[in-house]
Amino acid sequence: MKEKEIKDFVQTRYASIARGDACGCGDDCCAEGSVNINALVNYGDLLRDIVPGADLGLGCGIPTHVAGIKPGDTVLDLGSGAGVDVFLAAKAVGNHGRVIGVDMTPEMIAKAWDNAVKGGYDNVDFRLGDIEDLPVFSGCVDVVISNCVINLVPDKQRVFAEIFRVLKPSGHFTISDMVTYGNVPENIRKDMELWAGCVSGALDRDEYLEIIRLSGFREISIKKYSEYDAFKGDDYGIASITVEAIKV
Ligand SMILES: C[S@@+](CC[C@H](N)C(=O)[O-])C[C@H]1O[C@@H](n2cnc3c(N)ncnc32)[C@H](O)[C@@H]1O
Repeated sequence: MKEKEIKDFVQTRYASIARGDACGCGDDCCAEGSVNINALVNYGDLLRDIVPGADLGLGCGIPTHVAGIKPGDTVLDLGSGAGVDVFLAAKAVGNHGRVIGVDMTPEMIAKAWDNAVKGGYDNVDFRLGDIEDLPVFSGCVDVVISNCVINLVPDKQRVFAEIFRVLKPSGHFTISDMVTYGNVPENIRKDMELWAGCVSGALDRDEYLEIIRLSGFREISIKKYSEYDAFKGDDYGIASITVEAIKV
């Protein structure tokens, strides 16, 4: 599958989701054999204080919860969707910090801004852009977070190189994402619907961790790992992972 074709397909799908015309990774209805990746996520009381409509049920973890975000931090959320993790992080950084969300889908950015206005957030910024080429200066971010996005991106190495570039020295990331294990069949790997549903583009977990290591990150640690029952073959499956690492 060509990279541009994948991105166009993913962007069209998430534009529809932002408009409320389609369902995404979080729902069962996306594609036959797909997986409700959101099934293992329970924000619980965390959502109580953030603007309604920011959580579209598209996440596969809660990276903000374990990211060690401190008051005054500059936080960057990759693939921010309607803004749920940006708004959670905005509470954590307080008035002296700020949170930037980047998303390539204009409809998601518009929805996130709408939510920011409704919720009265003045320490957030949403930028239209591709996380393979971040619209963010080098070395200015304390914490990068991301929730179920990198699996959708064709070039994962480029994303982690960009994360490394924008982080300050000693900056760190906490990312929730989808990974696979075992021998995922080729027909699944090539299915565009399943790519948009956060399945086909998910990398093998060992390969994923190796890319992080080769990008220069250290102290790589898996905070959470959960395999899904819903999408499992005899010798393969899919899992959600929350991983953190430091730029030293
Ligand atoms: C599964 S949704 C997750 C949204 C959000 N993180 C959440 O948990 O609600 C994936 C989001 O990533 C965005 N996205 C996908 N590929 C991207 C890319 N290459 N650059 C920027 N955003 C991207 C989509 O537009 C969509 O909003």
